[in-house]
Amino acid sequence: MSQQVQGVIAPGKNEPVRVETIIVPDPGPGEAVVKVQACGVCHTDLHYKQGGINDDFPFLLGHEAAGVVESVGPDVTDVAPGDFVILNWRAVCGNCRACLRGRPWYCFNTHNARQKMTLLDGTELSPALGIGAFAEKTLVAAGQCTKVDPAVSASVAGLLGCGVMAGIGAAINTGEVGRGDTVAVIGCGGVGDASIVGARLAGAARIIAVDIDDRKLETAKTMGATHTVNSRSTDPVEAIRELTGGFGADVVIEAVGHPETYRQAFYARDLAGTVVLVGVPTPEMKLELPLLDVFGRGGSLKSSWYGDCLPSRDFPMLIDLHQQGRIDLGAFVTETIGLGDVEQAFARMHEGDVLRSVVRF
Ligand SMILES: NC(=O)c1ccc[n+]([C@@H]2O[C@H](COP(=O)([O-])OP(=O)(O)OC[C@H]3O[C@@H](n4cnc5c(N)ncnc54)[C@H](O)[C@@H]3O)[C@@H](O)[C@H]2O)c1
Ligand SMILES: [Zn+2]
Ligand SMILES: [Zn+2]
Repeated sequence: MSQQVQGVIAPGKNEPVRVETIIVPDPGPGEAVVKVQACGVCHTDLHYKQGGINDDFPFLLGHEAAGVVESVGPDVTDVAPGDFVILNWRAVCGNCRACLRGRPWYCFNTHNARQKMTLLDGTELSPALGIGAFAEKTLVAAGQCTKVDPAVSASVAGLLGCGVMAGIGAAINTGEVGRGDTVAVIGCGGVGDASIVGARLAGAARIIAVDIDDRKLETAKTMGATHTVNSRSTDPVEAIRELTGGFGADVVIEAVGHPETYRQAFYARDLAGTVVLVGVPTPEMKLELPLLDVFGRGGSLKSSWYGDCLPSRDFPMLIDLHQQGRIDLGAFVTETIGLGDVEQAFARMHEGDVLRSVVRF
């Protein structure tokens, strides 16, 4: 048995995305079918379309989603039909070397649905980040469903499924921002702004937002940035040093995914400070740094996969903070759109017009 739904696919490298009929199999062992209610447009979806992640076209795009479980496989006990869930791309295995050492947020063997969703002609689809949620319904591993309070709107909850969690986690989990720290965030899209929210939550004393677009800097201020730097007109390394007593920030978060901005992050941090790379580079990018500077400046250079989050721990916690008014996840939703508007949303993202466009079903 299976069902047919509408979904957005990326047919080939740099080809426009389009809405197609998708065949969703009934859930087998360990799987769940989720009726998607909202799915945000993340820059990583655009990376997929551009062939920047891998060549496994056609992709079923969308991975930042929330919805309601429709049906589950025979052995599934953690979630049940009717549960309101955020979809995650870190269904921890419990058995890999990271999990066995008690560090499941690094799980090296996360799982997705075993069965494939297909086009009508049987072509197998590669769901973005093992999710594929620009679709009315999607098939995932049950472990990819994290139950949260249904009182929160799906548009808001879904954001935690990727970009906002990645950004907040880059600050609080990977960067371990602490009370009184100075923090700089380079690139203030959805992910960078979420890092600003995370840094504020963690008690950072100063939060310096860096972007090349003044509109993004204005929004960054509303998210908690105490200072802003337009790096098109001002040298960001100099500016960050000036704003931190001449030394550099304790934690610099790179949320663009580019060698140039990484270099800025590297030199804008204080001695023994931390650089967190949360932006995703493309395969051809290379970084060159004097090894003596890497040594001499000390500290740590970290990458943040999904904000080093543990969905079962972090999603409900952040939903709680949102409901208490201590963070405002609603501020990330610039517009809600339909399934047929994803290509346009990519263009708007590229133009810097939006933080998040969210597809509503
Ligand atoms: N590590 C993870 O787990 C994870 C998860 C989600 C997204 N990401 C990545 O994070 C990055 C940001 O995603 P997003 O959704 O916020 O994208 P976005 O396009 O909304 O934001 C990017 C921002 O960077 C700014 N920018 C571009 N070039 C710049 C430069 N040279 N200097 C300063 N600012 C510059 C843009 O103006 C924009 O505001 C992407 O690379 C995305 O793939 C990583
Ligand atoms: Zn594991
Ligand atoms: Zn994403």
